[in-house]
Amino acid sequence: MTTKSILCVGTGEHGLPADWEVIRAGTLAEGRRHLQARPCAVGLLLVRETDDCADFNAFLHEHYAPHWVAVLPPSLAAQPAWRRLLADHCADYHTWPLDHQRLRHALGHALGMAALRDGLGLALAPVRGAGNATLTGQSDAITRLRRQIVKVAAASAPVLIWGESGSGKELAAQDVHAHSPRRKGPFVPINCGAIPAQLIQSELFGHERGAFTGAARDKRGLIESAQGGSIFLDEIGDLPMELQANLLRFLQEKTIYRVGGTRSIAVDARVIAASHVNLAQAVRRGAFREDLYYRLNVLALDVPPLRERKDDLLPLAEHFFHTFGSERAPRVKGFSSRAAQAIREHDWPGNVRELINRVRRAMVMAEGSLIQPRDLGLEAPPTASAPLQLDDARIRAERDAIDASLLRAGSNITLAARDLGVSRMTLYRLLAKHGITAPSRASDTRAQSE
Ligand SMILES: Nc1ncnc2c1ncn2[C@@H]1O[C@H](COP(=O)(O)OP(=O)(O)OP(=O)(O)O)[C@@H](O)[C@H]1O
Ligand SMILES: [Mg+2]
Repeated sequence: MTTKSILCVGTGEHGLPADWEVIRAGTLAEGRRHLQARPCAVGLLLVRETDDCADFNAFLHEHYAPHWVAVLPPSLAAQPAWRRLLADHCADYHTWPLDHQRLRHALGHALGMAALRDGLGLALAPVRGAGNATLTGQSDAITRLRRQIVKVAAASAPVLIWGESGSGKELAAQDVHAHSPRRKGPFVPINCGAIPAQLIQSELFGHERGAFTGAARDKRGLIESAQGGSIFLDEIGDLPMELQANLLRFLQEKTIYRVGGTRSIAVDARVIAASHVNLAQAVRRGAFREDLYYRLNVLALDVPPLRERKDDLLPLAEHFFHTFGSERAPRVKGFSSRAAQAIREHDWPGNVRELINRVRRAMVMAEGSLIQPRDLGLEAPPTASAPLQLDDARIRAERDAIDASLLRAGSNITLAARDLGVSRMTLYRLLAKHGITAPSRASDTRAQSE
């Protein structure tokens, strides 16, 4: 589904012919906004003499999914910092002045590679969530949510997902799509809060040529591009009132009008919406249309905050330790038991996103081989101030070693027992002695047969 559509970040001529759709972002900030609203396969960076390499580096680290082609002044292309940036992040580069034909070739090649990856199911994840990711966790709350997702996925009515920031609403939406009969169709995410008010109507509904200054070509909107799949309207509470009416019409009639268009276009896309604000209250305040609220709130899902699923904390921390394994400092092998305790005791107001950030930071910054509470930016759990009796110290050390091994082994008894140099039966006995809940035996049995 790759078209000749390019995100062009920076200022200057690009010299691309009219049959290429060029989305212009004058600054890196604008580029970020575009990419948050809509992933793109290929990007063009127009770099100027005065541009800061560190800014571009940060941008490209964050937005690694598109194939980037850069055009920069020859003087910068000779500097080591810029050369490293090109080598690390770009599929190709050119120097000013533009050789239009070469650039067209490079971008065409990048589009071809993107289409190839897409066709093989290898398209890099958009910035805000991986396509194959799924809600990890074994707590009762997340197990219940997964069951609800499967049920909701089979139906075709709109879904409304509520949850605190960073709790996993988008991931839940992706799971709904992935379990639905539409899974082969596109999943099109759009953050209603991230797109400037004057752009959102044409982004969502598209526009006809000449609809407004700068509308040089007909353009399909995001709803149309979700044909046969699902559209995910994130932060739906931020949708301006007048667009709420248009969305309501789409939900009722399954047709849209492009901006400046008179022809109604039938679109078969399922709406999944999410909000971190309570929409019922927004309705009472007059900030959200009541009729739209009832249309959307047919199938509701609540994503519980992390503090209500404490059992997921350590498995999730481990999960992210492995997911971001390539970033860790080579000496860092896992979490200390004090770090595990600090993770359990923290309240996680930023939910899973906060956990990811703290774990990633700790994996890079930790000085020892095991992550400590301070590496996570968390308070160390208090230690007893009274001197320990030798027996107490032994018991505590034994418990810490068991905790750390279970963490390293992803709660797998067989692996943890091997790690500790004891038999599985001994480990079960020790777990009972220390009052540690034994992990499920299903994963244990699986590991034994591997
Ligand atoms: N249960 C989970 N298992 C694995 N990863 C998770 C889980 N929940 C959330 N994540 C990850 O945490 C991050 C935040 O999740 P997501 O973007 O879905 O949250 P959100 O509720 O949409 O956040 P926001 O309100 O900030 O938009 C993402 O990287 C997501 O992949
Ligand atoms: Mg979100």
